[in-house]
Formats: sequence, structure tokens, C-alpha cells
Amino acid sequence: MGRMRALLSGGRRRKSPASLRFRQCSVLACWLTLCAAESLLSCPSPCTCNSSSLEVDCSGLGLSTIPSDIPPETRTLLLLNNKLSSLPSLAFANLSALHRLDLSNNFLDQLPAEVFGELANLTELRLRNNSIRSLEKALLQRTVLLRRLDLSLNGLSQLPTGLFDDLPALRLLSLRSNRLQNLDRVTFEALVNLQQIQLGDNPWECDCNLREFKHWMEWFSYRGGKVDELQCTLPKELRGRDMRMVPMEMFNYCTQLEDENSPSVVDRPETPCSKSNISPPESKADPVPATECPQRQRYRPVSVRRAIGTVIIAGVVCGIVCIMMVVAAAYGCIYASLMAKYHRELKKRQPLMSDAEGENEEQKQISSVA
Ligand SMILES: *[C@@H]1O[C@H](CO)[C@@H](O)[C@H](O)[C@H]1NC(C)=O
Ligand SMILES: *[C@@H]1O[C@H](CO)[C@@H](O)[C@H](O)[C@H]1NC(C)=O
Ligand SMILES: *[C@@H]1O[C@H](CO)[C@@H](O)[C@H](O)[C@H]1NC(C)=O
Ligand SMILES: *[C@@H]1O[C@H](CO)[C@@H](O)[C@H](O)[C@H]1NC(C)=O
Repeated sequence: MGRMRALLSGGRRRKSPASLRFRQCSVLACWLTLCAAESLLSCPSPCTCNSSSLEVDCSGLGLSTIPSDIPPETRTLLLLNNKLSSLPSLAFANLSALHRLDLSNNFLDQLPAEVFGELANLTELRLRNNSIRSLEKALLQRTVLLRRLDLSLNGLSQLPTGLFDDLPALRLLSLRSNRLQNLDRVTFEALVNLQQIQLGDNPWECDCNLREFKHWMEWFSYRGGKVDELQCTLPKELRGRDMRMVPMEMFNYCTQLEDENSPSVVDRPETPCSKSNISPPESKADPVPATECPQRQRYRPVSVRRAIGTVIIAGVVCGIVCIMMVVAAAYGCIYASLMAKYHRELKKRQPLMSDAEGENEEQKQISSVA
């Protein structure tokens, strides 16, 4: 720098002041931009960086650990297509300016509960195509600005209740291609700004456990939210059907209500109660499935009640028919007796008439004699 100044001061004698000032400025500007670029984004060695968008791209480098010297101003960090299988708790501890984080196509299976704890500015988190089988309830409690969350293509079989409680800004949630069999409505109720949810390609069990979530989905769709699909895998009777199209009445048997004035539910042979349909030994072994399938205990009383109803109706109908027959018989009897009486009277009258003729003849004979 001193030499540069000496050069410049040396040139001051010969050059005009205007061109000199220009040169001085350009050198200074050059030095400043160099310094700025370096201080803003010192790129970690194998990665490529864009200092204007503050993006650090470490994708597809076969990394098994995260580079330690990622600049704290980084707004976008791309770590996709690597070989990361675990993350230290403090992996992103200094990156509170991070907006986008992409960890897709790695081998992550367990995420420490506090790994995203400092990422209060994060709006997009991609964890697609990893081996995550479960998530900690507290994992996302600091990422309150999150708008997009991609958990597709993992091994998730359930979600802890409360996982999404601190994500009021979430717009898009993908749970595609996991091992989810059912979801709890309560887990999703905090997502007040959700616009789209992807649930396809999961082994959904369309039984009582999914009933409340179906309610939530109906409310969500009514609100204008988009659901891609929710295709049932179990029970057999509903395989391949979209849970959203299965009429709610199919799940009437789930309710604990005593009022059962819809016998059509009992008529249906394929009442979707997978737990007992699919694994009868298990449901016999322990008493737990009984609570999961309340229709088991209810089924018999309902049919008995229905049978009694049928008997009563049949009795009433028979009674009416009997009464009608009795009436008809009585009418027949009365008619027959009336007819008999009439005939008897007719017969009685005929001899009378012949008697009268005889009298007449007698009278004639008497008169002729006279
Ligand atoms: C850096 O980011 C800016 C803004 O997003 C973009 O216009 C530019 O093309 C990027 N540069 C490189 C080399 O990717
Ligand atoms: C975070 O920054 C502190 C100081 O700025 C440093 O000592 C520490 O090693 C950094 N941690 C990580 C994980 O980079
Ligand atoms: C979030 O970003 C803003 C500016 O983009 C910054 O001022 C703030 O410190 C960041 N939040 C945290 C928790 O670092
Ligand atoms: C998932 O990740 C693995 C390993 O990174 C990769 O080989 C595979 O092609 C990815 N699959 C998809 C569907 O992206």
C-alpha cells in the first residue's frame, strides 16, 4: 500500500490533477471491492460461492462432513447430493442469516433436536431423499419463518405431535414417499397458513385412526388448500381409493355415540377396520385393538337390535294380515250364513206357495162341489 501511495505521489508531479484523482479513486475502489468480496464471502475450499446472492454451493462434492468455514452471512447453503450421514448439533450454529438450506439426496438418518436451533431466518428447508425415520418434536421450534419444508422420500412412519406447532408461516409441506400409515389431526392444526400439502405415495391405512385427519383435510380443502392425493393401502376393501373420496359415512362406526339410527352402516360388509381385518391373531392376542376398532364391540348389539326391529315389523305386518284374514273369514261366514238363511227362507216359502195352491185347488174343488 505504501508503495502504491509512493507511485501515486510520484505520478502527481507529471499527470494532470483530474486524471490523477480518477486513478487514485479507481485503485481505491478496486481495493475496496476486493476487501469487501473477501470479507463478505470467503468461500470454503471445495464449494463455489456467489457473493451477490450470498449463496454457498457445496452440492455434489461427495462430502461426508459440512465444511467448517462457511461464512456467517450466507443466505443460501446448498449441500445436496453429498454423503452426509449425520449432522453435529452445532453444524449451523453460526449461520443465523441463512434463508435457504438444502440437504437433499444425502444419507441423513437422525437429526439432532437443536441442529436448526439458530436458523431463525430460515424460510426454506429441504431434506428430500434421506433416510430419516423419525423426527424430534423440538426440531423446528426456532425456525418460525419457515415457508417451505420438504421431507419427501424418507422413511418417516409417524410425526411427533407438536412438530409443526411453531411454523405458522409454512405454505408448502411435502411428506410424499414416506412410510406414513396415519396422521394426527392435532399435528396439523397449527399450520394456519398452509396452502399445499403433498401426501402421496405413503401406505395409508384408511381406518378410524385416519378419520380425524380426513376431517382436517376436508376443512383444509374447503379453505382453498391443495392436497395431492391420499391413496389407501389398507383395508383391502379401500385399496387404491383416495381417502378424500371415501364417504364420511364409512367411518360412522368409529363414533362412540349411542344413537345409531343409520342401519346402512351395518349393511356394509367391508366396514374399513383394518386392524382386525388384516391381523386377526394380533387383535385376539392383546386387548388394545379393541379400542382402535370400536365397531367390534358395537357390531353385535346393533345387529341384535336390528333383528328385534325386523321381528317387530314382521309381527306387525303378520298381525295386520291376520286381522284382514279374520275379517275376511268373518265376512265370508256372515255372508255364507246370510245366504244359507236366505235359501232356507226361500225353501220355506216354496212349500208355502204349493200349500196355497193346494188350498186354492181345495177351494176350487170345494166350490165345484158346492
Ligand atoms: C449470482 O447471483 C445473482 C443474483 O441471484 C445472479 O444474477 C448471478 O447470475 C449469480 N452469479 C453466478 C456466477 O452464478
Ligand atoms: C462459530 O463462530 C465462533 C466465533 O465466531 C467460532 O469460534 C466457532 O468455531 C464457530 N462455530 C462453527 C460451527 O463454525
Ligand atoms: C435475520 O436476518 C436479519 C436480516 O436479514 C438479521 O438482522 C437478523 O439478525 C437475523 N436473525 C437472526 C436471528 O440472526
Ligand atoms: C436419492 O439419493 C441417492 C443417493 O444420494 C441417489 O442415488 C438417488 O438417485 C436419489 N433418488 C432420487 C429419486 O432423487
